[in-house]
Amino acid sequence: MPIVFSHCDLEATRKANRTLARMPPHWIFERLRATTPDMTHAIPIGDVMVRGAVLLAPMTGVTDLPFRRMASRLGAAYVATEMVACAELARGRPDVVRRAAVGEGLPLMVVQLVGHDARWIAQGAKIAEAAGADIIDLNMGCPAKEVTGCASGSALMRNLDHAESLLKAAVDATSRPVTLKMRLGWDDASKNAPELAWRAERAGVQAVTIHGRTRQQFYTGQADWLAVAAVKAATSLPVIVNGDIVDAASAQEAMRLSGADAVMIGRGAYGQPWIAAALQATLEDRQPMDEPGPVERLDIVMDHFRDSLSFYGDVLGLKVFRKHLGWYVERAPWPASPDARRAAKAMLCRLERPADIEAALSNLWLADPYVEPSTLLAA
Ligand SMILES: Cc1cc2nc3c(=O)[nH]c(=O)nc-3n(C[C@H](O)[C@H](O)[C@H](O)COP(=O)(O)O)c2cc1C
Repeated sequence: MPIVFSHCDLEATRKANRTLARMPPHWIFERLRATTPDMTHAIPIGDVMVRGAVLLAPMTGVTDLPFRRMASRLGAAYVATEMVACAELARGRPDVVRRAAVGEGLPLMVVQLVGHDARWIAQGAKIAEAAGADIIDLNMGCPAKEVTGCASGSALMRNLDHAESLLKAAVDATSRPVTLKMRLGWDDASKNAPELAWRAERAGVQAVTIHGRTRQQFYTGQADWLAVAAVKAATSLPVIVNGDIVDAASAQEAMRLSGADAVMIGRGAYGQPWIAAALQATLEDRQPMDEPGPVERLDIVMDHFRDSLSFYGDVLGLKVFRKHLGWYVERAPWPASPDARRAAKAMLCRLERPADIEAALSNLWLADPYVEPSTLLAA
C-alpha cells in the first residue's frame, strides 16, 4: 500500500523517484565528503593522525556501526563506538561485542571502553586492539547511575589514584594510543579535570576530551568551555572540548574559550551525520558545504536504514533505526511547519517496510515545491 501524504503531489513524487532511479549509487557521498582535508587541522593522537578537528562523540544507542559507517562516508574523520563494558566484552556478551564492532569502510576505528577493574580494562584493550581498533578511549565521564554505581564512568573522577591506575593498565596492555574522555569533575566542589589530565599524560595517555559539565550536572545547564582552558594549561596532550557544540559558531567559540585543539560533537549529529565534514570546512575557511537537499537526504536515510537492517537483522534493525528516522525528519527543513514534521515523524515511525519508508519520505521531502539554493543563486 503506497504511503500518501495529504499534501503530496503524486506526479512530483513519481518524477523525483525517476530521478532517484537514474542516480549512480552513492553519488551523494562524493559531493558531501569534505574535499581534500587540510592537514594543518589534523590532530596527532599517538601514531594516529586524525584528519580533522571535528570529532563525533561516543553515544550509547546512537554511534553503532551503521551510524559510524554513514558518518565516515560523509567525511567524519573520527567517530567513536558506543561505550563497551570491558568485563562483558571479555566474556563475549553478544550485544556488547556488537557495540565494539569493527566495520569495513571506516577510516578510523575508535573503541571506547568503560570499567573499574584494571584486569578487565587491560583485557578489553587487548581485545579491542586484536579486533582492529586504531585508538582506545577510556570513559571516565558517564554520569548514569548504573555506571557510577559500579564505580565506573565519572565515578572514577572521585578517586584519581584508581583512575590513573586504570589508564596505566590500558596503556601497558596495548600498542594502540589510549585516550581519556571525562567531565570537569564530580561536582562544583571538585573540578579536578586538570589534575586527571596531568596524571593521564604521566600514565602514557595520548589525548583527552573534556565534556564541560560536572557529573552532578548530568546534561543540565550550559557546558563551560572556559573551564576546559585549565585542562589545556595542565597538559601538553591534544585537548578536545565537548558539550553543546552544534554549529560553526559554537565550535569556533568553544575552541577560542578553551584553547582546545579540536571539538567533539554529540547530540548535534542527530539526524545530520554530515555535520563533522560541514564544520570542518568552516574551520578551514573552505567554501561552506551545502546542506544536503531532499534527494540527497533520502539517499542517506535509506542507506543508513538498510545498513541497520543488515547489521542487526530486520526486527532489531528497524527498532534501532526508528530514533534515527525521527531525527532525520525533525532536522530536515521540509515541511517548514514543526507540527507537520512531528505528525510525519509519528506516521513514519509506525512503518515497517523499507519501501514504505522510502515512499513516505519521498512524498514528504520531494513532493513539496522545493527550490535548490544554487538555482536561486544562478537566477
Ligand atoms: C544518548 C547519549 C549517549 C551517550 N553515550 C556515551 C557513551 O557511550 N560514552 C561517552 O563517553 N559519552 C556518552 N555520551 C556523552 C556524549 O559523548 C557527550 O559527551 C555529551 O552528549 C555532550 O556532548 P553534546 O552536547 O555535543 O551532546 C552520551 C550522550 C548521549 C546524549
